[in-house]
Amino acid sequence: MVKIYASDNSEMSEREIRHQNRVRSLIPEGMVLLENNGALPLKAERKIALYGMGGRKTIKGGTGSGDVNSRKVVTIEQGIENAGVQIATKEWLDVYDKVYQEGYWNFIRAARERMAAGTHIVDILFGYPFQIPEHQPITEEDIKKSDTDTAVYVISRSSGEGADRRNTKGDYQLSDRELESLRFLGEHYKKTVVLLNIGGAIEMKEMKKIKGIQAILLVSQPGNISGDAIADVLFGRAYPSGKLTATWANTYEDYPFGEEFSQNNGDLDDSYYKEGIYAGYRYFDTFDVEPAYPFGYGLGYAKFRIENPSVAADEKRVRITLKVVNESGNCISPAKGKEVVQVYVSKPEGKLEKPYQELAAFEKTDELDAGEAQELTIEFPTERLASYDAGRACWCMEAGDYFIRVGNSSRNTKIAARLRLDREVILEQDKKLFALDTEFQELKKQKNTVSYSYKAETEEIQNAPVLTLKPDKFVTRIACYQEKHKEIVKKDRKESGSADMIKLTDVIAGRAALEELVCQMTKEEMAMLCVGRGWENEAGGEAGIGSASLAAPGAAGDTTVHLMQTREIRNMVLADGPAGLRLEPEFQVTAEGNPIPTGIALPMYADLVEGIEEKKEAKQPEGVKTYYQYATAVPIATMLAQSWNRKLLEEIGDTIGAEMEEFGITLWLAPGMNIHRNVLCGRNFEYFSEDPLLSGCCAAAETKGVQKHRGTGVTIKHFALNNQENNRSFNNSHVKERALREIYLKGFEICVKEAAPMAVMTSYNLLNGVHTANSVDLLMSLLRNEWGFDGLVMTDWGTTGNPVPGLAEKGKAYKTSTAPGCMLAGNDLIMPGMKRDMEEILAAVGTEIQLADLQAATMNILKTLMKSARYDEMEENHRID
Ligand code: BGC
Repeated sequence: MVKIYASDNSEMSEREIRHQNRVRSLIPEGMVLLENNGALPLKAERKIALYGMGGRKTIKGGTGSGDVNSRKVVTIEQGIENAGVQIATKEWLDVYDKVYQEGYWNFIRAARERMAAGTHIVDILFGYPFQIPEHQPITEEDIKKSDTDTAVYVISRSSGEGADRRNTKGDYQLSDRELESLRFLGEHYKKTVVLLNIGGAIEMKEMKKIKGIQAILLVSQPGNISGDAIADVLFGRAYPSGKLTATWANTYEDYPFGEEFSQNNGDLDDSYYKEGIYAGYRYFDTFDVEPAYPFGYGLGYAKFRIENPSVAADEKRVRITLKVVNESGNCISPAKGKEVVQVYVSKPEGKLEKPYQELAAFEKTDELDAGEAQELTIEFPTERLASYDAGRACWCMEAGDYFIRVGNSSRNTKIAARLRLDREVILEQDKKLFALDTEFQELKKQKNTVSYSYKAETEEIQNAPVLTLKPDKFVTRIACYQEKHKEIVKKDRKESGSADMIKLTDVIAGRAALEELVCQMTKEEMAMLCVGRGWENEAGGEAGIGSASLAAPGAAGDTTVHLMQTREIRNMVLADGPAGLRLEPEFQVTAEGNPIPTGIALPMYADLVEGIEEKKEAKQPEGVKTYYQYATAVPIATMLAQSWNRKLLEEIGDTIGAEMEEFGITLWLAPGMNIHRNVLCGRNFEYFSEDPLLSGCCAAAETKGVQKHRGTGVTIKHFALNNQENNRSFNNSHVKERALREIYLKGFEICVKEAAPMAVMTSYNLLNGVHTANSVDLLMSLLRNEWGFDGLVMTDWGTTGNPVPGLAEKGKAYKTSTAPGCMLAGNDLIMPGMKRDMEEILAAVGTEIQLADLQAATMNILKTLMKSARYDEMEENHRID
């Protein structure tokens, strides 16, 4: 009998309601007000005209493993009505319902035909997602009938893993229908408000030209309580206080090397990170490209002023004190708000060229009413001012002037101080890693490159107070490397007389040391432990992708149960995020107490497989019981980061941690923390930002929230450079070491050092020719040796060879990672796990890998298991698994 954590009560639980309300109160902090000429908040309106695709079909989050099967989604239409405001366009929305249904079933029918012709279902579920269909035209008649002067128009987009977005109309660009509708509404209504129900930026060039649009609010994709939270902001019961975490260009062509991204140049195998360190605003600022909305930008209903920033600095810390004043007049209602103070640094140009500015710190105020002020102290370690010199393999601060800029967006700052360093200092001496497999040219500043500037900048530079940093006070850390695992040699038993077979429970009870147990384990036992349980899932190959767990249906996977009887090593359950817990909301359990595996926990699955509903409804054998596990769908990661509020991220983590405890989940497969390298990456919504510092801080805060809960941990992913989806398993990211360390690894480093996440998930892609799951440089030298990570490292699902037909053949140029290679590189756990992985590991012991490699992986898995709650409720009468 398996312990079932889910509830047998189908009613909405008190926890669901509590979490929903908690999330609802946090959502407005992630909404970004892009434009407002006073139309928002809508105050007096009792009736509004609601148009656009997402009014009734509001998108709560992205697709794929980042989806969450929540009980319900409150749509924008419902949210507005729940707020007591009448919708004047019900008929128009009803017509769109039909358009939507037709579009959806056309998609399903076409997909079924592709499946009949040989396409695997997984290629459909993880292919370019169903895009919510274009709506019918808006007519004069509709407008007349609506009899109101206020229109709300919702633009929605969908994306998900396995496919990148496209720079086409209806995806990154607005469709003709959307543009024509917006122009029409702008001409006919007194107030037209646009809501962007999207996971990543869209082209703004055309929309910004339209007259009559009074407000644009990025409502993002806020999870299952979307509509109510959006209505709270629309009608002024709450205020938006989010800021963008990525640069929104006017047009796709403004993004650096966008023409080479993914499908755009037809090369899905190789991605050359030619922009180097110039990712996101680092590019737009340094090369003076005017964005539609800059990084860090966002309006509120209130207006703020930052007063008297004063800077103190030494070799350890930089400290800025300032005052934020809410200067809204009392006539603006509501005048309450929160401001995000952002600190950027411009480093001196030396041997290494530098971006115009980089984010160094940020802080959000408390809620401030009109006229209220708050003193803020923003501190950051001085070593954040370092750059990576790949030639000498060190983090260094070059001699020269470091300008500290303080403001409320990357394009609205003032220089607060000039930190002067007379001599270069080396802060950390590493060694050269990540050798390139192919040479390529990185973008460099030219003699005639002119960076962004603003009118008062020269004067500010001249007047900035000068603070001197003393070079001889800095200390240099020297990294130590140990890239080979050491064999654990047999030790004497702690207690004589205990049973010969050491069990994990002996270790937990202090009767034996973990090393003793590991020493005693055979290579077969260790290989079993290092390969997940996916191979046992009878629901078929595809189960290995979305829901390989046998213990908690819908969870992504389990570790082995086969050492339970002999070694009392329990399994751990691993469930997806990042927008909550992805579980099957409803499942059945046999009379013997075993959950019945059902396959993929992805919404469209049931529609793609004809007859599955009937099967579900068919009479079940005697004793079969139904259980429910409804998790809260929280906002997508980008939206959480848009709050720029660590406390909020910690609260979200805490909410998820509580649900993990409830459902018996040990590891959450989140947060996702890849960098938004290109706006079209299909999974950007699962990631925080284009900036590594912001990503790292968000992940660290969320980690702290989750790991507050006894025995639960996070798995930061996808380590690293999972920035293209179309050929994610076989894409080779070619990147030079400075960009790698400053941009793509920095966020992970911050999270590892600040919050000690329990686990790390390697990515599908290759890094300079080596699969990250097989990279000694990445996992041993960098993660474990330089950063001191001592948790568990697992693969992403199926990197060693996908059990799913069709998927493995996609790569033309590169092969899969190997199972023995994982053990050698310190990737402890292969998920969801194939029998072949075990066989290959066993065959390689003594040649390609040594016993020591298996022991190291075993140690890391067992240490994590010991941190889990899996031994808290060991019950005699349960077959524990
Ligand atoms: C995704 C991971 C996810 C895993 C398990 C993979 O396809 O890339 O992010 O955690 O599946 O569902």
